Amino acid sequence: MSRQTLDGPKRRSSGARFSVTELAIAARCPRQMLFAREGYRVVEGDGGIGQTAHAVLAGFVTRGATHPLVEEALARRPLDESMLLTAITEGLYREFFDRASGIASAVAAQDLVRLGRIVFDLSSLLGELLLRARRSGLTGAEAFARAFEASERRVELDLDGVEVRGSLDLLCRDLERKQAYVFDLKTGLADVAAEEQVRLYALALQRAGERFTPALAYVSGEKIEVKVVTPLDQDGERSLEERARELAAMAEGKKTPPPALDLQTCRTCPVQKPCWIRWGRTLRDEEAETPSPPAADEVAEEALKLEKSLRAHRVRLDRIDPLLAVVGPNVVRFKLALREGQAIARVEKSARDVQRDMGWPVPPLVCNDGNHVALDAPRRDREMLPWRAASLRDLRGLEVPVGLSLNRELLKLDLATAPHLLVAGTTSSGKSVFLKGLILALLRLPPADCQIVIVDPKMVDFTSFRAPPLWRPVVTDPSDAVALLQSLVDVEMPARTQKLVDAGVPQRTDLPARSMPALVVVIDEFADLLASFMDRDLKTQFIGSVQRLLQRARAVGIHLVIATQRPSVDAVPGALKANLPVRIAFKLPSSHDSVTVLDEAGAENLLGRGDLLLKRDGSMTRAQAFNVTPQDLQEELTRGRA
Ligand SMILES: Nc1ncnc2c1ncn2[C@@H]1O[C@H](COP(=O)(O)OP(=O)(O)OP(=O)(O)O)[C@@H](O)[C@H]1O
Ligand code: SF4
Ligand SMILES: [Mg+2]
Repeated sequence: MSRQTLDGPKRRSSGARFSVTELAIAARCPRQMLFAREGYRVVEGDGGIGQTAHAVLAGFVTRGATHPLVEEALARRPLDESMLLTAITEGLYREFFDRASGIASAVAAQDLVRLGRIVFDLSSLLGELLLRARRSGLTGAEAFARAFEASERRVELDLDGVEVRGSLDLLCRDLERKQAYVFDLKTGLADVAAEEQVRLYALALQRAGERFTPALAYVSGEKIEVKVVTPLDQDGERSLEERARELAAMAEGKKTPPPALDLQTCRTCPVQKPCWIRWGRTLRDEEAETPSPPAADEVAEEALKLEKSLRAHRVRLDRIDPLLAVVGPNVVRFKLALREGQAIARVEKSARDVQRDMGWPVPPLVCNDGNHVALDAPRRDREMLPWRAASLRDLRGLEVPVGLSLNRELLKLDLATAPHLLVAGTTSSGKSVFLKGLILALLRLPPADCQIVIVDPKMVDFTSFRAPPLWRPVVTDPSDAVALLQSLVDVEMPARTQKLVDAGVPQRTDLPARSMPALVVVIDEFADLLASFMDRDLKTQFIGSVQRLLQRARAVGIHLVIATQRPSVDAVPGALKANLPVRIAFKLPSSHDSVTVLDEAGAENLLGRGDLLLKRDGSMTRAQAFNVTPQDLQEELTRGRA
């Protein structure tokens, strides 16, 4: 086993080099690590605040001791604890304000507020360390320098010929307890990868002759929590080196990377699709089959636990009645009766803490529900709904199934009245699967009633839909998409309008049956399509066509269904959004995105894979979409149209 740092005697080198972060990601999943090396984003974003939080911390550790208030408080005899804590808060906020204006335009307001809270909590963490330094008898700059040794220090590690490099967040000391820590600040996921990361830093320092205990400072809800991580023992080091060699072989393409050990990781993995294309599926279809709903005593037990957790976080409420709970396919909706004067905001604020207490994968969605406050507890054994469970018999005209609501009723959407639909969701959240269901449902109608056109710039999801049931073959090329939309505006819409004028009626539905089929235009990956335009004029022309269709096509029976990963303004311009009143959000990366799509937060806490919120006429419904598998597609398409 190697014991030298890179500064020590030269070792045989395999030529492979990893960053500490890459090696840490590999502890979660080696495949994810390889994607990270290729530049893919493998964790959900934290709203862009992580980097700034790190910079605030680094700035304070570098300059904090010379901040006038901190300097005075550190020198004050006898120790004035509250003065010192106030000074540190002041010093950290100085660092924060210095940076806030620089990032404000790129970060959502609520993320900026969250960053402010993180900085505040950081002040109590760093303040405690400085207090302990003072209590141990040190004063002035010496207390500061001994409590905080370094931040952003570069470390190197040789794992049996595999080079690993990184830069750690903070080295600090609790001088009262005589403990030294290597800290990493996590504003995102604090999972096995995060723990591995601090363990690697601690190992690098240990090999350089310094002893630091690995610890994580992570943001849970609105608080910073500190978790001490067990350092590697000799066996651990040996297996780490073995893993590093294997990872080097994988990076060089000499070995196939294994999937994540915990398949739960695959369920929410941001690179699931490219992973499956490259190395095959990791989740079996039968894992998507239906488990039975939880028994009444399980629901009662969960209610009791939830009640305890909410009370622990200072939510004043009556006993949670398990009989009022609604067991949906994806979540159990508990109805909370809050005590007089208790605001729903308290429940919302404690959502992340409750998540941790209950061991849920995401914070619960909280909303007003009549006299109660509804809190959605993610089901441990979520039901995936097979496509055959969608009862198409119950649909009329241009109605399509959205999914099963929490009451297990079929949630439908009538495209004739919608009249257009915006679908947004992060990767693998279930957009394309939903669109496939929507198209299959419309294909039950004869071509004289409804025709469909699909725009699929990704070119993989809709290949099974071929003409003739479609109005024309699937459009995959961006310039064909422009031409198509343009022809709808220039030719199809005027022709349809003329027909209405000739018949003397205001809209398609007033015409005799089957004289003018509805035309549903499904556009997947809308943002990608827009981004693919090199030519500005072409892009403006395209947006103009879509805009005109959205505004004027309802009467003539042309309906647009637009799906996108990114709901931001550059992805779906505001003018278009204003004409898309009915919206479906699958899981979104941040609350900011949720507000963009639904005008309220919540979709960031959905479970992914078909868990959705439908917003129409100002009201919101949660549902689980039906899972359309490739087999379902094949069966339905070979069966043909009615
Ligand atoms: N309703 C559902 N029920 C069960 N599993 C689902 C459902 N919807 C999606 N999934 C699972 O998630 C995977 C990804 O779904 P889908 O292709 O629809 O994602 P997407 O939102 O279109 O992602 P991308 O933006 O990357 O195209 C599917 O292959 C399927 O395994
Ligand atoms: S889908 Fe699973 S195996 Fe593939 S990269 Fe993601 S976590 Fe790893
Ligand atoms: Mg898709």
